[in-house]
Amino acid sequence: MDIVRRRHSTKKFDANRVIDDQTLGKILEAFRFSPSMANIQPWGCVVVTDPEIRRQLQPYSYNQPQIVDASHLLVLCRRTDIDEDWLERVEDRWLKELQKHILEKEADHLDVWANSQVYVALGTMLATCAAIGVDTCAIGLFDHEKYDEILWLTEKGLASCVALAVGYEKDGIKHWPKTRFAEEDVIFRV
Ligand SMILES: Cc1cc2nc3c(=O)[nH]c(=O)nc-3n(C[C@H](O)[C@H](O)[C@H](O)COP(=O)(O)O)c2cc1C
Repeated sequence: MDIVRRRHSTKKFDANRVIDDQTLGKILEAFRFSPSMANIQPWGCVVVTDPEIRRQLQPYSYNQPQIVDASHLLVLCRRTDIDEDWLERVEDRWLKELQKHILEKEADHLDVWANSQVYVALGTMLATCAAIGVDTCAIGLFDHEKYDEILWLTEKGLASCVALAVGYEKDGIKHWPKTRFAEEDVIFRV
């Protein structure tokens, strides 16, 4: 519980501190091993390190400094090509019936459904990073069309959902106190 209370969204990263490959590997593993409905895994993660590409993305992200200052910018995407063929690639044969039901039920808004799965992965990554001492800021405020264009996502069968800036916070940053609604406002027992 300490981790949940201590973690916070980093607004100012130390641009000189880079996450080592092993640690980055753990964060990407948290993405890959995140749960999804019927294990369909309708997602992809683009690791953006190229400073020039990040400079291009920044103006389409309300000029947020995390886009260029964080060690890595991870762009979490939904797949745009979820169909029967994709399901064939999912190994869990025993989930086939369930998977077909999901495709039928969500047919009119598969994009919304896939987006929601990606957000579960975001949560898994936020918790993992907090546990291994990596600072984060989820980035939802950006122009999705521009990200898709700059990162060539359409060609990859992907569409951007949300980004995650990861790295280490700049020393001496003063934090706002953490505020949340009271338990009685958000927890309901029946
Ligand atoms: C899906 C999502 C998108 C977010 N997008 C942004 C963002 O674009 N820029 C930003 O500075 N913070 C962003 N945040 C961070 C929230 O503002 C932050 O989680 C919230 O204010 C609570 O603060 P805490 O994370 O420090 O506890 C986002 C958080 C989530 C979960």
